[in-house]
Amino acid sequence: MPILVTGATGTVGSSLVRQLVAAGHEVRAVTRDPGSRAAAALPARAEVVAGDFGRPETLVPALRGIDRMHLVAIGESLTTGRRILDLAEEAGVRRVVHLGHNDPGRDDDDPIESDHRALHKAIENSGLEWTHIFPGEFMANTREWVASIRTESVVRAPFGDWTSAMVHEADIAAVAMAALLDEGHAGKTYVPTGPEPVRRRDAVRMIGDAIGREVRFIELTPEEAREHWKDRYPEQVIEWFLEMGRYLDGNAWVSPTVEEVTGRPGRTFAQWATDHATDFR
Ligand SMILES: NC(=O)c1ccc[n+]([C@@H]2O[C@H](COP(=O)([O-])OP(=O)(O)OC[C@H]3O[C@@H](n4cnc5c(N)ncnc54)[C@H](OP(=O)(O)O)[C@@H]3O)[C@@H](O)[C@H]2O)c1
Repeated sequence: MPILVTGATGTVGSSLVRQLVAAGHEVRAVTRDPGSRAAAALPARAEVVAGDFGRPETLVPALRGIDRMHLVAIGESLTTGRRILDLAEEAGVRRVVHLGHNDPGRDDDDPIESDHRALHKAIENSGLEWTHIFPGEFMANTREWVASIRTESVVRAPFGDWTSAMVHEADIAAVAMAALLDEGHAGKTYVPTGPEPVRRRDAVRMIGDAIGREVRFIELTPEEAREHWKDRYPEQVIEWFLEMGRYLDGNAWVSPTVEEVTGRPGRTFAQWATDHATDFR
């Protein structure tokens, strides 16, 4: 029976598809656009099917003959998730592994937070076996620096001493894979992080080491950061980034999840930078 992976062209989903296929499992990969480059980059042995969270009925063919699925909380699935879960149950799905996010520090009034929390409840109240995966900050977020590293060998960002135990997408996917395949994960909430806290300025240096040339870190003041990000992120998100930056070790906690669930230590940021060096060259 194939395993259904939604968000299959995404950062974590594509790694999950690759790891499942490499381990010999049948995978059905959902994307809104099976003709996209990202879909074409999935392993040839994965079955790529169309489906759109915004129109949950489009997922019915994808759910046929499936008993376990990976559900990513993103965009429309935050609001249509309950309907998707109903359709999954009707189709015979028994287990859902949910990749999402939980930030107890954020306000219930924040509309995105409250959508996430509503989805958590819908999953927990469904008749499915569920596992939540709420990772720490992704190492892959540093891809935001690709353009300036490629063209100028610099990174401009605030808070060079901001410290975060960022996590490799392959480790998040490995945790999801264990929860999909093995017993003992039902009803659990996993918070995978990387194996060590890394300062932002050190992450920049490690990318430089991986690509074989020096990359300079230029620290922005909060005011300069607002200007720098203004065309890229909504104002509310920028203010949230800046607020987080005031607590320099706010994300530094290292969770034992990756090692406990997968049996091997999490990948380091230096490893991530090597894995993605071609993106930054
Ligand atoms: N970034 C972080 O630091 C961080 C930290 C903690 C938690 N998280 C959580 O991680 C999750 C995101 O994971 P990710 O970064 O791997 O995702 P991602 O790279 O942004 O990819 C998400 C995938 O979802 C698919 N998708 C989007 N809208 C869709 C729709 N309407 N219908 C069907 N598919 C749709 C897209 O596939 P197609 O375009 O092919 O349709 C896309 O490939 C979120 O729940 C986020 O809250 C992120």
